[in-house]
Amino acid sequence: RKASVGLNTQRTLGEISPLLFGGFAEHMGRCIYEGIYDPASPLADSRGFRPDVMAALKETNYRIMRYPGGNFVSGYRWTDGIGPREKRPRRRALAWRSIESNQFGPHEFMEFAQELGTEPMWAVNLGTGSIQDAADLVEYMNLPTGTLYSDLRAANGHPDPYNVKYWCLGNEMDGPWQIGQMGALEYAEKAVQAAKLMRWMDPSIKTIACGSSATSMPGYPDWDRVVLDHSYAQIDYFSMHHYAANPYPTISNTERLPVDTDSYLASSVHFEEHADTLAAAIRLAKAKNRSKHDVHLCWDEWNVWYRAKGGDGGWSEAPHILEEEYNLEDALVVATWLNTFLRKADVVKIACIAQIVNVIAPIMTRSDGMFKQTIFYPLTLFSNHASGHSLDLLVKSPSYHSARYGEVPQLDVSSSFDPESGKGAHFLVNRSQTESLSVTLNWEDVAPDGLTQAWQMSGADPMAGNSFDHPDAVTAHEIPLPRLDGRSMTLTVPPLSFTTLIS
Ligand code: AHR
Repeated sequence: RKASVGLNTQRTLGEISPLLFGGFAEHMGRCIYEGIYDPASPLADSRGFRPDVMAALKETNYRIMRYPGGNFVSGYRWTDGIGPREKRPRRRALAWRSIESNQFGPHEFMEFAQELGTEPMWAVNLGTGSIQDAADLVEYMNLPTGTLYSDLRAANGHPDPYNVKYWCLGNEMDGPWQIGQMGALEYAEKAVQAAKLMRWMDPSIKTIACGSSATSMPGYPDWDRVVLDHSYAQIDYFSMHHYAANPYPTISNTERLPVDTDSYLASSVHFEEHADTLAAAIRLAKAKNRSKHDVHLCWDEWNVWYRAKGGDGGWSEAPHILEEEYNLEDALVVATWLNTFLRKADVVKIACIAQIVNVIAPIMTRSDGMFKQTIFYPLTLFSNHASGHSLDLLVKSPSYHSARYGEVPQLDVSSSFDPESGKGAHFLVNRSQTESLSVTLNWEDVAPDGLTQAWQMSGADPMAGNSFDHPDAVTAHEIPLPRLDGRSMTLTVPPLSFTTLIS
């Protein structure tokens, strides 16, 4: 079977925002405690950070980090997390039936983000929190000293403002599981008022309103239309969430369809539809508001999540919840999702994989070590190599039939070209479980001198994954560089594979 990809550096889809390669750290399970903050580990430094975990997070090169939730934020009092640690309250965190010690709070997160070199993205509590609490938090984080909360920040050891730029206006406020669930209009009105006060505190901030928490929500996409229409003038980004699954949950979320890897590997059909629908809702709201300003999509929760669904922490600290174990097919779906971000680079400008450590995460820790899950590899390859323009490719691929999406191309692909460095990056997923694919890349205008690096992950078993005992069972490894012949290059990609080529 043969496929071809036509590339032209002048034919582009949009500028690739570096913020597409972001993460999400929530106070839940073992993401913060025993994840990024683990003072009891023999590996921890004096701040409680783990050099091994930090090194893996740095490898992924996260450009933005959403914090502190998630569902957690809708009951979070940010003042609990500041001041001397011994005085911070222990609370029941209702979202995950867990105990929150508040030993990690705003200052610790900022220290973590600065060490990682990532842009913080803060979510405010619009569940139990008031618009005043949200504005006070902006004062605490961003304003020069001289008033109550900025002076309090200085008293807590940080006289200089942190200047947090990105602010999420609540989390999944349409969900019945959310503390303080609201209707679309009620949410939009509160979000607008919160954003107004927060901007009065600091006009330089960017705000992000909540979209539907899933495409399976009964309110989707009306929630999105209503919220966008009412909040358009006060927001810069609109959030979308989705978790992919095999088997795919039914709309009721109670029964499940049978395992269907062919359909699962075609999930990017759904990802694209989701982005297209919300991009259309944004255009409609822009027209209705007679606005000149643009709102972009912020896909601030995305990942595979369907095995470790139970979110009951049993009123313990750092419970082992949502510790999903990833396999090869999950890594391929993650690669097609990142391809989708590049193909939708004109509208999707921020994306955060949910989450970064232990909880539905690319890396897993225990006190004496860590390992990288399969999804770590595509995430890290895209984050480090996709930059500049996303190319509008001319793709010809054989297709296969999937029960869920009908005919889908066997090859899922995206390419970037950075005019500043001259670097090209090409990301190819062969979705077939059985057929290899001969792929020819044709450079239509400027051909590179050759490839500089190439990696591949593949395997016969889509369900194979890594573990503490077998940390390197499924990884991306370097492959011999395919040769360029004039303006063309042909390589054969095996079934169930993800290949990254750098030119
Ligand atoms: O990422 C796990 C949870 O998924 C988040 O807390 C919530 O926003 C979503 O439902």
